[in-house]
Amino acid sequence: MVWWLLCWAALLVLTTTVRGGEVTYDGRSLIIEGQRKILFSGSIHYPRSTPQMWPSLIAKAKEGGLDVIQTYVFWNLHEPQTGQYDFSGRYDLVKFIKEIQAQDLYACLRIGPFIESEWTYGSAYVFQEDTGGCVAFLLNNDERNNATVQFNNISVELLPKSMSIMKDCENVIFNTAKVNTKYNRRISRSRQKFDSTSRWEEFKDDIPNFLTTSLKSNTLLEHMNTTKDESDYLWYTFRFQQNSSCTEPVLHVESLGHVAYAFVNNKYVGAAHGSHDVKGFTIDYPVSLNNEMNNISLLSVMVGLPDSGAYLERRIAGLTRVEIKCAKNESYNFTNYEWGYQVGLLGERLQIYIPQNLSNVEWSKLGISNNQTFTWYKILFDEPMGNDPVTLNLTTMGKGEAWINGQSIGRYWVSFYNSAGTPSQTLYHVPRSFLKTSGNLLILLEEAGGDPLHISLDTVSTKDLHEHISYYHLPQ
Ligand SMILES: *[C@@H]1O[C@H](CO)[C@@H](O)[C@H](O)[C@H]1NC(C)=O
Ligand SMILES: *[C@@H]1O[C@H](CO)[C@@H](O)[C@H](O)[C@H]1NC(C)=O
Ligand SMILES: *[C@@H]1O[C@H](CO)[C@@H](O)[C@H](O)[C@H]1NC(C)=O
Ligand SMILES: *[C@@H]1O[C@H](CO)[C@@H](O)[C@H](O)[C@H]1NC(C)=O
Ligand SMILES: *[C@@H]1O[C@H](CO)[C@@H](O)[C@H](O)[C@H]1NC(C)=O
Ligand SMILES: *[C@@H]1O[C@H](CO)[C@@H](O)[C@H](O)[C@H]1NC(C)=O
Ligand SMILES: *[C@@H]1O[C@H](CO)[C@@H](O)[C@H](O)[C@H]1NC(C)=O
Ligand SMILES: *[C@@H]1O[C@H](CO)[C@@H](O)[C@H](O)[C@H]1NC(C)=O
Ligand SMILES: *[C@@H]1O[C@H](CO)[C@@H](O)[C@H](O)[C@H]1NC(C)=O
Ligand SMILES: *[C@@H]1O[C@H](CO)[C@@H](O)[C@H](O)[C@H]1NC(C)=O
Repeated sequence: MVWWLLCWAALLVLTTTVRGGEVTYDGRSLIIEGQRKILFSGSIHYPRSTPQMWPSLIAKAKEGGLDVIQTYVFWNLHEPQTGQYDFSGRYDLVKFIKEIQAQDLYACLRIGPFIESEWTYGSAYVFQEDTGGCVAFLLNNDERNNATVQFNNISVELLPKSMSIMKDCENVIFNTAKVNTKYNRRISRSRQKFDSTSRWEEFKDDIPNFLTTSLKSNTLLEHMNTTKDESDYLWYTFRFQQNSSCTEPVLHVESLGHVAYAFVNNKYVGAAHGSHDVKGFTIDYPVSLNNEMNNISLLSVMVGLPDSGAYLERRIAGLTRVEIKCAKNESYNFTNYEWGYQVGLLGERLQIYIPQNLSNVEWSKLGISNNQTFTWYKILFDEPMGNDPVTLNLTTMGKGEAWINGQSIGRYWVSFYNSAGTPSQTLYHVPRSFLKTSGNLLILLEEAGGDPLHISLDTVSTKDLHEHISYYHLPQ
């Protein structure tokens, strides 16, 4: 039975409210216009949805019983470069807050600048604590069974999958299991398959080599410091003429994170990656070298980590050591060698995920459909009928990013399994406001090898099963 205990000095700090009136708090609760309130709050991250979706998302949250919509403020979107601000479209925070107000809910802004939030890099954590009465939060994570915990010498029984708030760490004053909840089931309908080879086209991204790169250095550069937010990708390249004594060469690469792909003379050799906890990793791949000049190209990739922890600004990533080891106790050390760098991929630089820029490269008919590294795929599709939300099922892909009509719908990494042995996400929401009736452009950038022929476009609906009603009272 899993439960956690949190004893916090203060309940929470409501940073902003959309209604007027006095907001204060003490050790027991928030006090809004003189009334004690326990507010039920849930997150809607405005840039992760579209302005067209906000009214219905907020309405659903309200219908589900929320009083407060909370969101982080995504500073790296609003100020991508120092002094350059963007509050347009999906980043229109003011419009989002006004919509919350229009639906008569409160807004809680978590202004950052550090937000974690599975968001690229985050920045610095702002956590406020205050003194006051003692409120305790007890959580039972078990979905089926009650949990009995001894807390301050009191035995407390917690309902399944619920959180209890205790007043003065003694009496339960609130339990989340006693709140109105609707039970429903998600129904997914496949609306479009993409299994026709002739509808797809592909573009294999370029593998740069030492001679084609312009940024040179006599050492291995730190990844993030070199890409400077322009891209997740950094190519490290060198060229090398082996001496005849080197037999059974093995390419040895050490990286501080997060992912690396190795290519020798334009051929894919292998890849490796770190994990959330251990970001660094080592590659040891047998390679075949010719007796002339060999082009070695290593692509280091960041996946947005770290997004939490102390001294974020001092973290370093990218390759730290590169060698070629030979059978006869001989090795070449390339750590301090002549390196050529390229920030980003060619397709990224040419922005070929934007409809107007498709012709910046030459697309070809789909060749071997699956398991190709660093391949861009493109296909056109029609909008599914109706109003149900649209999702893209990317289960058969590997690692990469997807765009619809030039808008990114997210990075994917379905070939990476979490501790439960499944990908953490396979379904990607496609906002209907990104779609037109027909001729929608889907672009996939596949890094590691995936199968675009077996992805699908689905619509999702929910079916209400039954309603649970009970009430809670907050003692005055
Ligand atoms: C769980 O706890 C509640 C509240 O104490 C109690 O009413 C209920 O009977 C318990 N359920 C089980 C299965 O023990
Ligand atoms: C819990 O009860 C024990 C025995 O009665 C007592 O010694 C102890 O001080 C109590 N602890 C707290 C936190 O009240
Ligand atoms: C980052 O790059 C600058 C020069 O552009 C250099 O002075 C600095 O040492 C680099 N930092 C790291 C951690 O590599
Ligand atoms: C291979 O041998 C030549 C001649 O001895 C030497 O100049 C060169 O540096 C060697 N190459 C490497 C990668 O060590
Ligand atoms: C290495 O790259 C250079 C420059 O692009 C090219 O001329 C040469 O053929 C490449 N060598 C191999 C073995 O692919
Ligand atoms: C292999 O290399 C190590 C370290 O450079 C050295 O101590 C050892 O004598 C070498 N062995 C052979 C068989 O050359
Ligand atoms: C390779 O060179 C780097 C930098 O000079 C050094 O730190 C590293 O120990 C060397 N590796 C080997 C195996 O000698
Ligand atoms: C891509 O298309 C957009 C919109 O037409 C344009 O602003 C941008 O310059 C293009 N980028 C490239 C690299 O062609
Ligand atoms: C994909 O390619 C890799 C290496 O190129 C190979 O090890 C793997 O078996 C391939 N997977 C499939 C499904 O073909
Ligand atoms: C997604 O696609 C995979 C592979 O076709 C399929 O097994 C899975 O059931 C689909 N997921 C959903 C939610 O439809």
